[in-house]
Amino acid sequence: MTVALHVNVDHVATLRNARGTRYPDPVHAAALCELAGCDGITVHLREDRRHIRDRDVRVLRDTVGTLLNLEMSATEEMLAIALETKPDLVTLVPERREERTTEGGLDVVGNAAAIGAAVARLRDAGIPTSLFIDPESAQVDASALAGAAAIELHTGDYAHGGTRAPAELVRLGAAGAHATRRHPSLRVAAGHGLTLRNTSPLVAAVPSIVELNIGHALVADAVFMGLEEAVSRYRDAIEAGAAERDE
Ligand code: PXP
Repeated sequence: MTVALHVNVDHVATLRNARGTRYPDPVHAAALCELAGCDGITVHLREDRRHIRDRDVRVLRDTVGTLLNLEMSATEEMLAIALETKPDLVTLVPERREERTTEGGLDVVGNAAAIGAAVARLRDAGIPTSLFIDPESAQVDASALAGAAAIELHTGDYAHGGTRAPAELVRLGAAGAHATRRHPSLRVAAGHGLTLRNTSPLVAAVPSIVELNIGHALVADAVFMGLEEAVSRYRDAIEAGAAERDE
């Protein structure tokens, strides 16, 4: 089975905002990624607007023809934006202002009522929700109970785990298998810290994954090789991992 590649274009906006220019535009980047064959575009509208801005989300809603995945925290402000712009998918993530990037998964177990209410509001507006969680079966079960259409397993501990990476792969595999077995309608995505090196082993080891969100490393690679080549190399890495798991 193929695994979808959703490209996160946040860091094109980071570069733009570093100089307060109009370029490089994440909207252009998204179009190039789509032309290169990605399956979706992901953006994280952070509370402090450090990269993606409201205008980017609005324009992307009009231009993205594959799938637009809006990552956001479950605040009133963000829910209002999502309900108005209607992305194809919302991914709820925890957010702390002082963090450099999303540092951990959502605690769905500890915040079941609030997260369930946010998922229900989005669902009533026809927007499916994915929950970004650490690879733990209790969080998987709570996500299904909250009405999520999908979970996104946090791969940061795997990506940055060094010698612990093999153990983290086992943890991701177990959480993914648990989701597939217990909640067959729950889609399993994964992301954070994925690179050209660590994507294939992840796809090979976690057969439940149907979708990856990749941003920082792909945009960094594109600085040297161009976006089209970068998308195509990540696609190859995914295919190599998928071929290994299907053997
Ligand atoms: N998935 C989620 C939920 C994220 O918050 C991020 C970072 O914005 C990513 C995937 C992409 O991570 P990276 O930029 O490290 O590829």
